[in-house]
This record gives sequence, C-alpha cells and structure tokens, in this order.
Amino acid sequence: MSLTNTPDPAIRAAVVRQDLQHVLHPIVQHKALEAKQIVVTGGEGSTVYDADGTAYLDAMAGLWCVNIGYGRTELATVAAEQLRQLAYFPHTSMNVPAAALGEKLNALVGGGYHTYFVNSGSEANEAGFKIARQYMKHEHPQHYRFKTVSRYFSYHGTTLATLDAGGMGERKAKFEPFSGDFVHVAHPYCYRCPFGLQYPSCGMACVKNLETAILGEGPETIAEVIIEPIMSGVGVAVPPDEYLPEVEKLCRKYGILLHIDEVINGFGRTGKMFAHQHYGVSPDIIAIAKGISSAYLPIAATMVKNKVFDSFYGEVSDNRQVFQVNTYGGHPVSAAVAVRNIEILEAEKLTERAADTGAYLLDGLRTLMTKHKSVGDVRGKGLLVGVELVKDRASKEPVDAQTITAISDFCRDNGVLVGRAGGGRRYGNTITMCPPLVITRAECDRLVETLDRALSAVKIN
Ligand SMILES: Cc1ncc(COP(=O)(O)O)c(C=O)c1O
Repeated sequence: MSLTNTPDPAIRAAVVRQDLQHVLHPIVQHKALEAKQIVVTGGEGSTVYDADGTAYLDAMAGLWCVNIGYGRTELATVAAEQLRQLAYFPHTSMNVPAAALGEKLNALVGGGYHTYFVNSGSEANEAGFKIARQYMKHEHPQHYRFKTVSRYFSYHGTTLATLDAGGMGERKAKFEPFSGDFVHVAHPYCYRCPFGLQYPSCGMACVKNLETAILGEGPETIAEVIIEPIMSGVGVAVPPDEYLPEVEKLCRKYGILLHIDEVINGFGRTGKMFAHQHYGVSPDIIAIAKGISSAYLPIAATMVKNKVFDSFYGEVSDNRQVFQVNTYGGHPVSAAVAVRNIEILEAEKLTERAADTGAYLLDGLRTLMTKHKSVGDVRGKGLLVGVELVKDRASKEPVDAQTITAISDFCRDNGVLVGRAGGGRRYGNTITMCPPLVITRAECDRLVETLDRALSAVKIN
C-alpha cells in the first residue's frame, strides 16, 4: 500500500486500520488516536499535508526539529549520492561526511571542540554524562565525581538516565526508582519564581540554590551541571541574562563541567546558532540533535571542549579512549545530510531570520494579552515561544489540562498545529510554538489569529 500526495480516503482509511492494529505510538493515548488521526504524507516549508488533503501550518516544526522546513528535496539527492558511495561503516574508522561535519560544527562554536556522534538527543546527553564521569576518573582519581546537577522541570531525554536528569515528576513516576546520581535544583522560571521573588531584586536566588546544592552534596562528588539555556519543555522559560554566566562561574569555582543541552535551542532556533552564545559562556560539553539535520535523518552529537578531549588522549596502553561505542554513530548518510542542512541554514541566513521573525511573532502574540485575561505571560527567544494561560492573572492559577487540550484541538481543527508544555498537571498550561525557521510573517499572523479565535471560543477553566 502506498500513498501519493493525491488525497485518497480509501487508502487513508486502510493506513489507519493497519496502524491501529499494529503500531504502538509514543506518549499519545491510542483511544485518542482512534478518534482523530493525522496521517502525514508530505510537507513544504512550514506546512504538512494529511492524506485526506488537509494542510496544517506546523507551528512545532514536527517535534521542535524541522528547522529548515519541509520539502527540501536536495537533501534526498545528498542522501542518495552518499548511499551509493558508502552507506555505512562503523565510526571506529573515519568517513568523509562525518569528518566534514565535525569540522563544520567546530567552526559553528568558534573552534576548540571535538565531536562524538550519536543518534538522538537522549543519547547525546547520556554520552555527555558518561564522558563527564570518565573525565573526572582520569583527572581526579582521588575523588568520586559522578553526580550530575540538573534543574527541576527540565527535560533531557527519554532513556532512564536522561529521564532521571530531567525534572518532571509526572514523566518519571512510572519508572521509579532511579539511580539517585542526579541532583535537582530550582529552575529559573521567573514568571513562577520557585522562591516567590522577582527579578532583579531576587538576587538570583536560583543560582544561590545551585551553590547550596553543590556544597551540600560536596563538590568533590559532582562531575557536571546540565543546563538547557532556554527551558523548552516547561513552557519556554527564558532566564535572566546573567543566569548562565553565573552558573558557569560556579562550575569553574568548584571544578565542575558545564554541560549545555542545545538539542532544541541549537541551530538557529533562538536567533543565534546556539543559545549559549547569547550569554557568552564556554561549555565543556554540548549536546546537539534535532536541528543538526532538521530531522531529515536521525543524527545527534556530544561536543567536548579540547580540555576534555585531551583527557581522553594517550597511548593505547593508557586505556583513556572514549569507553563506549554505538553502531550508527557518525553514519555517513546522516552526516552528509547534516552538513548540507547546516549549509542551507547559513546560506539562507535562517538564524538571523529566526531572530527577526521570532520578534515579530512575539509582538503579535503579546497583543493577545490585551484581549484575553487568560493570557498570563508571553515569552520566548527567536522562534521558540510560549504563551502561558491562567485562570486569573493575579493568582496565576494555571488553566486545567482540558482547557489546554481544547485550545490546541481548536487550532488543529483550524489547520494550525501548536504544542504544549510537557510539565503535566503542574506546568502543562503553556501553548508552545517552535515553527520551522522559514515561517513567513503572514504565517505568523495566522498563528496569532488562530490562537486569538481559540481563546475566544474555548471556555477557560
Ligand atoms: C532539551 C532536550 N534534550 C534532549 C531531548 C531528547 O532528544 P531525543 O528525543 O532526540 O532523544 C529532547 C527531546 O525533545 C529535548 O527537548
């Protein structure tokens, strides 16, 4: 059975039957899928098409990842050429596209890094945890530095360790207990400051909280701190400008590695190639995925500063090499596609465009605050945006899950796909937008107008 771009209800119905009988989907309840499905068969720019012919403006770039937009057939040519040349060989050897991608990535961060290739953002962070631990074994054999410090309400992936690193209780509850190697501290979520304070009079209480945790745990037990600069999953929390530099200072003070998660934030999304570049910090470890290939093929990576790389460098007999391997790391076809994807990002100046269009979208969304009391906060950086919905602005009581579902369903039924924060019942009350960086101003107008209508149509509870 195959589907072309020509709508065909009979074939669509057969796909749905086939799928519901045989496929187990991630994170969506199958009963909901029985009631309503999207069977995506094609895409162009910021729009995807259902097999029934319906067009959807995809304000989430898939799962926060299709940065260059859909329908770039030149990437199919790149992949086909590489498949013909060399489809695969393990990365214990070298291959042409992965070497080129390593060089390209190093240039994007200003030099001084080596890159370890993996297949997903979870793996990139997990490799970061392991590299940090191994580094500490090499550099501080007298200590036992193995802990990662992370923030509550962060998300760093779906494997057991990355889930443990994350700070969303509801996502973790069904898999507990965890190892206990991950220590959590308060997150810089100024709209709902965990300390009930206000910036700047707060004196950066969240950074002080981090230092308390470091001292309480014992710095000699801590390998790294992991930070997603703009916290996407909790509803796009943008920290004060000095937050990340202050965190970096603490890392340096206590000999802890700074691990930055750029899985969503990277590749132009926030108006710089990488979000940490807004803040002038120099991470020891950088996890990248998603926008590295705009999801045209799976690929991700863990970049390490040469200081870390040097710790893994020695005689064969020293046994200092990176002590892990994965079958598909450095896959030549994915690497070739990633290189071209980055060339497109650069040639079309999509990072600059994200800054410009993102500011335009934020301005548009802010107009909704004057029209709808339920809009408590509108925030973002570049084309990474959150609209937080509340029952009452003074109390900031979050709207309930049904309200958020009804609003995103309204948007979907009107041809616009928006996202929602992943904080579950506590912080699930933010509509998120993370569109392809090619989105036009007219399409941004449509996002604002559709959300406007949704907020009028849906009863806010
Ligand atoms: C910030 C962040 N880190 C890591 C991940 C995990 O990436 P993946 O789903 O590719 O494993 C995600 C996924 O959305 C993410 O948002």
